[in-house]
Amino acid sequence: MTVLRKENPNIADAAIGPKGRPAGRNGHGYACFAALSRVPYARSCLKNGDPMNADEIAAAKNEALSEAKAAGNAADLEQVRIKYLGRNGLLPKIMQGLKDVGPEERPLIGKLANEFKQEVQSAVDARRQELGSAGAASSASAFDFTIPGRWRPTGSLHPISMVIEESCRIFAGLGFTVADGPDIETAYNNFDALNTPPDHPSRDNQDTFWLESGELLRTQTSPVQIRVMEANKPPIRIVAPGRCYRRDTTSATHSANFHQIEGLYVDKQVSMADLKSDITYFARLMMGSEVKVRFRPHFFPFTEPSVEYDFSCHICKGKGCRICKQSGWIEISGAGMVDPRVFKIVGYDPEKVTGYAFGAGIERIAMIKYGVSDIRQLYDNDVRFLSQFA
Ligand code: PHE
Repeated sequence: MTVLRKENPNIADAAIGPKGRPAGRNGHGYACFAALSRVPYARSCLKNGDPMNADEIAAAKNEALSEAKAAGNAADLEQVRIKYLGRNGLLPKIMQGLKDVGPEERPLIGKLANEFKQEVQSAVDARRQELGSAGAASSASAFDFTIPGRWRPTGSLHPISMVIEESCRIFAGLGFTVADGPDIETAYNNFDALNTPPDHPSRDNQDTFWLESGELLRTQTSPVQIRVMEANKPPIRIVAPGRCYRRDTTSATHSANFHQIEGLYVDKQVSMADLKSDITYFARLMMGSEVKVRFRPHFFPFTEPSVEYDFSCHICKGKGCRICKQSGWIEISGAGMVDPRVFKIVGYDPEKVTGYAFGAGIERIAMIKYGVSDIRQLYDNDVRFLSQFA
């Protein structure tokens, strides 16, 4: 809203808003009735309710035209317009008076009223144009710079996106690039090439969203390992963030779709020590330098040996709390040394290269990093929740 500076003493405090309405602080005009009531009505004769005659209308018109011409700035001109054409101005009163005019006089008075309206309106328009070009030149005086600016809320990244971006940034510092794969995967990439046999429970209908085409919504980001290795020769150093899907009943800690970031490092002489040190480095940058990392023996069909790894609970600093179920540790995901069988499937020579792979649950990290106790809050898109991360 452009608020014009008031220069007319009659409208003492009134700034003028759009459509000639007096503008208060919020444009509602509440502050301005007193000011407007001090503007004298155009014709005192109206006070007794008499209709105006032809001479009076002509006189009022001349007065209006000369006032419009004489208006020295946009605010004054607006007052002239309100005084003669506004809702409580002279014109509506002339129109109202028509009903009290005798039938033989009425057409003439009606015609004069119309002329009054048109001529005064064009005089106001013409003057506004003249003032407009001059006004633009002296725009410094046309704005009230003391009016507070409009506050616009700024958006921010979703906590899941923040964790993904930060993870990629941390691994970029270790020389990893970012790879990508589709949400709809082949059973070959998601299971077979990852050495996961047809009788493995995760291939069950109860565990996986199968499509009629025989493809599926990927259950993990590990198929990106296969895509990257089949398309590239070693050495490989990638992270692959993305969405995964499992037939899970939604609860405070589980969701049927969630995010992982996959890591894969293949080269000569990559060892378990590299895996442990890189994950620990990642944990420290993500959670803070006091975080501890714990590796537990585990089994995955596509890594050998395999581990699951936990971060010490960020909330209770390892002492035990509701979030970590009193254990002091939060499971992040699995990892291990790439199984030689997987290397053979993608055409790498397991005698020449070794590698490590890991997954990391993005929601898990977000929950402990930001103290979110229910995973569903990450998907509700409640602005009151999300704005806390801005
Ligand atoms: N894909 C495994 C999971 O979703 C995690 C994992 C990734 C394990 C890479 C080993 C190596 O549980």
